[in-house]
Amino acid sequence: MDGNIFEKILGQESLFLERRAFDHAFEPSRLPHRKHEIDSLVRNLVDALNGHIPSNMLLYGVPGSGKTVVTRFVLSQLLDKGKEMGESVRCYEINCRNVDTKYRVVQNIASQLSQRGDAPIPFTGWPTDRVLDALISRMDREGGVHIIVLDEIDNLVSRSGDGLLYNLTNINTVLNNSRCCIIGISNDLHFTQHLDPRVSSRLSQEDLVFHPYSALEIQDILEERVDFGLREGSLDGGVVQLCAALAAQEHGDARRALDLLRISIQKAEQSEHALVGTAHVKMAQSQLEYDQVTPVLRTLPLHQKLVLFSIRLNEGNGLRNISTGEVYRTYSEACMKVGVEPLTPRRISSLLNELDTLGLIMARNVSKGRGGRSKQVNSAIPKAIDAIDALSESEPLIAQAAEGKYVLQSHL
Ligand SMILES: Nc1ncnc2c1ncn2[C@@H]1O[C@H](COP(=O)(O)OP(=O)(O)O)[C@@H](O)[C@H]1O
Ligand SMILES: [Mg+2]
Repeated sequence: MDGNIFEKILGQESLFLERRAFDHAFEPSRLPHRKHEIDSLVRNLVDALNGHIPSNMLLYGVPGSGKTVVTRFVLSQLLDKGKEMGESVRCYEINCRNVDTKYRVVQNIASQLSQRGDAPIPFTGWPTDRVLDALISRMDREGGVHIIVLDEIDNLVSRSGDGLLYNLTNINTVLNNSRCCIIGISNDLHFTQHLDPRVSSRLSQEDLVFHPYSALEIQDILEERVDFGLREGSLDGGVVQLCAALAAQEHGDARRALDLLRISIQKAEQSEHALVGTAHVKMAQSQLEYDQVTPVLRTLPLHQKLVLFSIRLNEGNGLRNISTGEVYRTYSEACMKVGVEPLTPRRISSLLNELDTLGLIMARNVSKGRGGRSKQVNSAIPKAIDAIDALSESEPLIAQAAEGKYVLQSHL
């Protein structure tokens, strides 16, 4: 081999000037199209600097609509201002996807308030009330305003109920020397339905909805990152627009758009292109779709896999709007070939509903006259993904089933 194997890559000029501009954790200094949301947070949180208690807030919006990044931005500005004014303001950001029990949330915040000489609060083991008491006394010892952000709060409630929120939204009545404000952030608009009405009204004193970004708004967000993070002239015309359009179709998700752009740039680099083109975006989109769908395919139970296999097999043969009867025929044939007892048509009908819920197929009910109803299904897996291949990889029986010959209805 000529020279060191790292040399070729090391010498290659990167298209990125600042790769971190495309990282999820990057916090840009400007947040286009979130002025209204920033203003609402500021108008409420300014009370922290005025000696009052800011209202509790609930922030809603689809994933990737900027809830986390906007909240972090506003709080960091608040901390700066507090310092400048000599006001004691403390902020705690808890991601309830990772910290999802009452005990752990309280333990986490109380530990951040720990001072020398305090007994460390163990990760488990104390009665929850004792941890809560420790938190209250430490908040009072510190004084000032405490702002607790519970990000992805829907996870906490679905796992552990609303007990913690009951205590936290009531905490100002037991604090003597400090004030507290809760900001909940949820991807699920209906999340308060799972709350006790008292908790819900105390938590959502102010609601703030983050609408999904439009394609044009996402373009602006991407342009900022491109200016800062990318070598000038690296993008072919239409690249930013395509990333934005694809992400807007998804659900106005800025995270998806940034992922698409970052992977497109990496694809161009890998193929040693100095210019990122729309072809790279399409490759990036296929990769993201593949990464999204294949883990779901892999973990399906055997019969779900066999049903999906049967649908894709028929589609491969040119059939669309496949009737449940047809799915069942192919499914039974596949079961036969691999020596598995087929489930009843009724069970298959409910498996089809589950596949629909997972977004792997689209099923619709059609009336067949004289009150009869039947279902028609189409797979919803992107065409670029070889679903049968992905199913076969995780399940040898599917690989075996795929080798057989089938009596399929033709599309004519
Ligand atoms: N208005 C914006 N300007 C710049 N970047 C944004 C904006 N909104 C979202 N982003 C970026 O998009 C990604 C997703 O945003 P995030 O706040 O994590 O969404 P959410 O918390 O609503 O799921 C992050 O990388 C974030 O920096
Ligand atoms: Mg978030």
